Amino acid sequence: MDWSAIIYATVLLLVLLPRSASDDRLVLGKPLVPGTTIVSDGSVFALGFFSLADSTPANLYLGIWYNDIPRLTAVWVANRGNPATSGTSSAPPALTLTNSSNLILSDASGRVLWTTNVTGVSGSAATAVLLNTGNLVIRSPNGTTAWQSFEHPGDTFLPGMKIRVRYRSRDGERLVSWQGADDPSPGSFTFGMDPGTLMQAFIWNGTSPVARTTPWTGYATISGQFQVNSSSSVVMVSLAVVRTEEEMYLAYSLPDGSAHTRFVLTYSGEYQLQSWGSSDWAVVGKWPANECDLYGQCDPYGYCDGTVTAPTTPTCKCLDGCEPASLEEWSRGRFSQGCPRKEALRCGGFVALPGIKPPDKFVLVENRTSEECAMDCANNFSCVAYAYANLSSRGTMGGMRCLVWSGELIDTERVGDTAGSDTLYIRTAGFDAVTRPKNSAVKIVLPAVLLSGILILTVTGTSLAWFKFKAVSFQDITAVTNNFDRSFIIGQGGFGKVYKVTLDVREVAIKRLSKDSAQGIAEFRNEVVLVAKLQHKNLVSFISCCIEGDEKLLVFEYMPNKSLDALLFNNSRKTMLDWPIRFNIIKGVARGLLYLHEDSRLTIIHRDLKATNVLLDGPMRPKIADFGMIRIFSDSQENANTHRVVGTYGYIAPEYQTEGVFSVKSDVYSFGVLVLEIVSGVRISSTDNIKGSPGLVAYAWKLWNEGNASDLVDSSIAESCALDEALLCVHVGLLCVQDDPNGRPLMSSVVSILENGSVSLPAPEQPAYFAERNCNKAVEGDDVQTSRNSMTMTVLQGR
Ligand SMILES: *[C@@H]1O[C@H](CO)[C@@H](O)[C@H](O)[C@H]1NC(C)=O
Ligand SMILES: *[C@@H]1O[C@H](CO)[C@@H](O)[C@H](O)[C@H]1NC(C)=O
Ligand SMILES: *[C@@H]1O[C@H](CO)[C@@H](O)[C@H](O)[C@H]1NC(C)=O
Ligand SMILES: *[C@@H]1O[C@H](CO)[C@@H](O)[C@H](O)[C@H]1NC(C)=O
Ligand SMILES: *[C@@H]1O[C@H](CO)[C@@H](O)[C@H](O)[C@H]1NC(C)=O
Ligand SMILES: *[C@@H]1O[C@H](CO)[C@@H](O)[C@H](O)[C@H]1NC(C)=O
Ligand SMILES: *[C@@H]1O[C@H](CO)[C@@H](O)[C@H](O)[C@H]1NC(C)=O
Ligand SMILES: *[C@@H]1O[C@H](CO)[C@@H](O)[C@H](O)[C@H]1NC(C)=O
Repeated sequence: MDWSAIIYATVLLLVLLPRSASDDRLVLGKPLVPGTTIVSDGSVFALGFFSLADSTPANLYLGIWYNDIPRLTAVWVANRGNPATSGTSSAPPALTLTNSSNLILSDASGRVLWTTNVTGVSGSAATAVLLNTGNLVIRSPNGTTAWQSFEHPGDTFLPGMKIRVRYRSRDGERLVSWQGADDPSPGSFTFGMDPGTLMQAFIWNGTSPVARTTPWTGYATISGQFQVNSSSSVVMVSLAVVRTEEEMYLAYSLPDGSAHTRFVLTYSGEYQLQSWGSSDWAVVGKWPANECDLYGQCDPYGYCDGTVTAPTTPTCKCLDGCEPASLEEWSRGRFSQGCPRKEALRCGGFVALPGIKPPDKFVLVENRTSEECAMDCANNFSCVAYAYANLSSRGTMGGMRCLVWSGELIDTERVGDTAGSDTLYIRTAGFDAVTRPKNSAVKIVLPAVLLSGILILTVTGTSLAWFKFKAVSFQDITAVTNNFDRSFIIGQGGFGKVYKVTLDVREVAIKRLSKDSAQGIAEFRNEVVLVAKLQHKNLVSFISCCIEGDEKLLVFEYMPNKSLDALLFNNSRKTMLDWPIRFNIIKGVARGLLYLHEDSRLTIIHRDLKATNVLLDGPMRPKIADFGMIRIFSDSQENANTHRVVGTYGYIAPEYQTEGVFSVKSDVYSFGVLVLEIVSGVRISSTDNIKGSPGLVAYAWKLWNEGNASDLVDSSIAESCALDEALLCVHVGLLCVQDDPNGRPLMSSVVSILENGSVSLPAPEQPAYFAERNCNKAVEGDDVQTSRNSMTMTVLQGR
């Protein structure tokens, strides 16, 4: 006997042996009928007919289920909405593989209940194989896959499946829920990749979003550990989002030997991670996990705080820069009206919100560094927020991910410091005054690199410092000022320093408030919010602001001739201010003040008008600056009381200094002092050139009363002086510094008098000298705090 021949014959026999019906495949001419199954090679999955509920006649579904657990768990159903009846033993429903490489499910009468619809594949040698992954595959005779059930998923996402979205066609696989526990027909819930942004996954109810993942953050894979139950095994799930040239997909894997584990979209719309315990499925993860996961729970411009732990329930809060649309609703815990943007808030900074699941409806901008991403957003007025991530630093092959938002910020959640969280930078207002030349349109294309991201499972994490302020343009400013180099300083005072730099081909003045400045965040915001709204040729133009840590910066138009006091009280430079210029300055300041008091939509009191706060542009036109002390009133309020008197000695009206009462007439008083200073060239706090009078105001009134008002005029401008104008100014100045606020004219009268002249002005009352007795206590450039009559008095010296 030739043993080699026997071995050869045996091998041949085995190969040629026909496969039985309980094999792992279906071949031509051997239909699958109820009562028989196809079992995968490793016996994990079975394909066959099953019924779900007791009914007569039985509703039969063709499907795939776990073969090795006692509970029937279908992971895929062919005829979901089209059940077969059991038929007869001679004419049962049957699954047949055709000679065109299609699977056809037909019922007893031959009606086609389901088919694979493969076209263009012919050959009688095709087979349908149930793989041990649960994938039913039709193999062409040449070995290629003609069709596979993994590309036509039901409600279950198994390891090895891909939930894809194709960039070009924007379609791909979606899980589709069942209608009910015993009804596999397609329900209204679906799960899949977002065809809009291509960067997140959704659960939808019909076309409405139910829940949204965070945009992929660039994790190649993340492994989650899930405890099946408190005493037994732990499931390790490695999730991945993979991006290729044509598509992006979601996939996951389990280590060998793991308990059966699957993602399933339940008929109630929950995306669950289930793992088989000893006797039942355990839900080891679910999404949405809490109210905050529900899409648009707090839209728009609100965020849902998902970091709170029981018993506190998640609540909606407004993103910084917003306030609730309806306080009443918010206090009742209902948020349907959301948070609108504060219309007035137009400052160039961004507020950084760490630990955020970024809102929906973003646009991906390619190839941006963090600075470029910030500038892109800052420079485009329609951009309301951005988020930046360096995907490479997160261990993937990706590049920079710059997301920008325009319009509403919907579905923002605070998730804390979790794997998928981002820092969201929300614009607190417009940076529109500083625009960069647009050299190219922003391209919105997907990086064609393979990168990955992930998440889905809600993980609770520690919360970061919330609402830490950060201004994006701060880096720009440190760059252009060479980290606030002294050489850029053009002014200095108790408030801090002023730098002159060129920002985007424009000269600007940057006011950097000193860290110990008396101006707190509240006053800073006060200044910013108001100043951004005020537009008048006699008010300094605000460009932007930024806050970073305890740094507070304001960007204004640059005024080449600095502040009025620098010229007016400098013996060698005051000649630059001849009378026509001085008269124009007086009229300009009056118009600027009139605008604040009456012509802007609000009644605004400056509270700190003085020569240092009047800036001069190239042609010496005056612009009022420094709005840190500003107060707004509705028209009905004429006076207000304050316990904190702010301003500068000498310029503070007596009733404000003694009683804390201020009104537009307090500004009129300061204006009067300023007028007397401009005419005389004498500082209000000076004791020189006032011939022994207690102060400038008293000196001016004395000269006026004696009929010698012309002596008040600064001798250095005597030549250019139109005496009638100067005398008119002295008269107006003295009317403005009268003790009784009601006796002082309104700025509208002042402007009218200065521009048209007046034949019949009342004679000024003798002013009180209260303010002047304290003049010299103010030390130039210092903040002085004195306590008088239990009233705190804060004196802020400006530039
Ligand atoms: C395929 O099957 C159809 C009907 O079952 C038959 O008419 C046809 O001849 C078959 N074709 C091949 C190539 O076997
Ligand atoms: C097969 O094609 C028919 C007609 O185009 C369609 O109605 C049916 O839904 C398809 N079946 C499957 C399983 O795709
Ligand atoms: C295998 O067959 C299919 C259809 O019959 C055909 O489209 C495909 O190109 C073939 N592949 C190879 C590698 O021959
Ligand atoms: C899903 O949508 C339907 C129809 O719009 C609605 O009746 C149903 O309440 C929704 N279900 C959930 C859970 O949102
Ligand atoms: C948890 O696991 C233990 C051991 O496998 C098992 O006896 C117990 O029934 C399980 N409990 C649940 C709730 O699944
Ligand atoms: C993005 O950057 C990469 C690498 O620097 C470069 O190859 C690619 O052309 C850039 N894409 C665009 C749209 O600028
Ligand atoms: C500004 O943003 C909007 C919305 O994202 C976009 O349509 C527009 O093209 C952008 N403009 C510029 C100049 O980048
Ligand atoms: C991104 O992160 C990688 C890895 O940490 C680093 O090498 C690279 O410089 C970073 N790129 C930017 C623009 O920050």
